[in-house]
Amino acid sequence: MESHKYFDKHRINNSMILSKHILPRNQRSYQGLFYFLRNGTVSLSNVAATKTFENTLKLPSLPVPKLHQTVEKYIKTVTPFLNDVELNNTKRILEQFSSENGIGTKLQRLLEQKAQTCENWLEEWWLNTAYLEYRDPVVVYSSPGLVFPFEDFQNEEQRLTYTAQLILAAVDYKMAIDRDKIPLDRMGRDPLDMNQYKKIFGTCRIPGEKRDSLEYNSDSRHIVIARNNNFFKVEVVNSSGEVPSLSQLVSHLEIISQESEEVGPSVGVLSTENRDNWYKAYSELINDPVNKNSVNEIQKSLFLVALDNPMPEINDSRMSMAGKQFIHGGGSRGNSANRWFDKTVQFVIGPDGTVGLTYEHSPSEGQPIAVMTDYLVDYIKNNACSELPDTKLEHWPEKLKINVNDKLKYYIQLANKHVDKLADNLDMDSFQFKSFGKEFVKSQKLSPDSFIQIAMQYAFYRIHKVPGAHYESAATRKYIHGRTETIRSCSIESIAFAKAMLDQGKSDADRVNALKEAIASHKKYSIEAVNGFGVDRHLLGLKLTALENGLELPDLYKDPSYTRSTCMRISTSQVATKCDGFMCYAPLTVDGYGCCYNPRPYDINFGVSAFLECPETSARQFRQALEDSLHDMHDILAKTQKSKL
Ligand code: COA
Repeated sequence: MESHKYFDKHRINNSMILSKHILPRNQRSYQGLFYFLRNGTVSLSNVAATKTFENTLKLPSLPVPKLHQTVEKYIKTVTPFLNDVELNNTKRILEQFSSENGIGTKLQRLLEQKAQTCENWLEEWWLNTAYLEYRDPVVVYSSPGLVFPFEDFQNEEQRLTYTAQLILAAVDYKMAIDRDKIPLDRMGRDPLDMNQYKKIFGTCRIPGEKRDSLEYNSDSRHIVIARNNNFFKVEVVNSSGEVPSLSQLVSHLEIISQESEEVGPSVGVLSTENRDNWYKAYSELINDPVNKNSVNEIQKSLFLVALDNPMPEINDSRMSMAGKQFIHGGGSRGNSANRWFDKTVQFVIGPDGTVGLTYEHSPSEGQPIAVMTDYLVDYIKNNACSELPDTKLEHWPEKLKINVNDKLKYYIQLANKHVDKLADNLDMDSFQFKSFGKEFVKSQKLSPDSFIQIAMQYAFYRIHKVPGAHYESAATRKYIHGRTETIRSCSIESIAFAKAMLDQGKSDADRVNALKEAIASHKKYSIEAVNGFGVDRHLLGLKLTALENGLELPDLYKDPSYTRSTCMRISTSQVATKCDGFMCYAPLTVDGYGCCYNPRPYDINFGVSAFLECPETSARQFRQALEDSLHDMHDILAKTQKSKL
């Protein structure tokens, strides 16, 4: 299997780098890690005992749910989207599907057989269907932005110092991953699969004709800096495994600033294209050996750092503007060409103190990136690199030369036009909800995540007066190489609650009961999903089993129950950071919303998006409805509690 090939390559790379960096000669970066750990929440000895990646090997395999359980659950989740006649028809289709001689039963058998032959039956299918075979641009359609706490740079010197600190922090974190010294993530008591962390650094997506691929280069020792659409290779680890000092790195950034006064050829914008156009342009680009070498250096780098120009003037809040800067860069008039969107991690540093990253989604979910972000923010706050001595570096920053012929000029023109369209269409209204956070919800003996999800259900219903199919990511990292399952947050109970809130005839006690039922139903589904027992990945597995075996697609997949319940008008996920940051991304459907959130103890950050081309939706309208819903839910709980006293 292809992805196993990648893993094998990756394992070799990591064992090589592990043996290199574990040696005490790499004292400086070791001290960087030690400094943070001494001042952070975990001690070095705890971390050393964690054996983060060894643990992954012991994790169980992703289960295949029982067919009848999925069928039962499915019927419940599609009920809000169907009238009685449609629901009866769906039930009939499912009965045939799961009968003894039904196609579903046959597919189930084949899927169970497949699951016995691999560590994770979904892994390769998911990587390919959700990401590598997806032909829309990664920009807007797939890659999220993560906004860090805002900085306030008074001048360019401060920006470059921050940038150097961020680079050293990221290299330090990368080395901690290599040395198996990052704390093990857990869900409750269960250890989680940590493989995604190994793919954060040195990874790049490579455009392909029908399917892209991923390349892992975790033993690289350089990064790439982008400024004014120019790309520079910068050594960050020398051949002895030592990292530069802060002042060395700042001086390298100064050299880069001087050498990038002139705007470079906009080849970076090509990576914003749909994957078919990008593949064509890419083939042309690397046809020239000079370009091929430069592109290789970008792809092999540990990560990319974009020193951006100011964003084009838009009448947005700072949070919304930051989200746009990381999701698309502001189009051809902004920074969209100052990127290589196939790199897994691109840190972006704006001149005004807007800092964060954009990441290419295929190798990793948002949560490992968020955990890394907290590490970086703490490292910089603790000034952990201030003591690093100068190192003997072997290379000066090198400008990567790129030749642009007429064909490439044409592709760039086209990409500029397309990215402007994408940027102009994205509507964002990100905000911090300050009235309460997780602690209030916990004090009510309710699940904060389910509470927020039900608030979104209510917000959507109060605007549109129809149920909104609603995707929430649940991590299935309890299992080896686990990624996600969908929590279907729209339920019979969530709609009953929204209706109760809008029905003047209902008492507060009725509404609180409806709220608690909606939350309980959501929580139940969440628990099933994190244990691998949602409906969506199972149904995807059965569908792909049919396709791979040359069998006809079962009627279920053409039924309105399927098309409506999978047309996710509300696309959401919890991405939690301790720092005051948040993740954001675009909606999954033209007439939908994106809503990523970071529930913190006393506030919640939301990244809200919509598409301007859809007259029925607006990010501002959803934000308003969401704030109102959260307040209404808080108030009914507070009122009914008072009346009990
Ligand atoms: N009473 C009191 N406290 C409660 C409670 C209740 N009834 N229910 C939950 N809580 C507490 C929990 O114990 C937990 O406490 P902690 O903060 O001290 O650990 C806290 O509230 C949060 O729990 P909850 O809000 O229920 O959800 P969760 O944190 O378990 O998250 C998911 C649920 C589904 C978001 C999570 O399991 C998950 O999968 N996260 C990954 C999502 C993802 O993949 N994102 C990236 C997509 S790119």
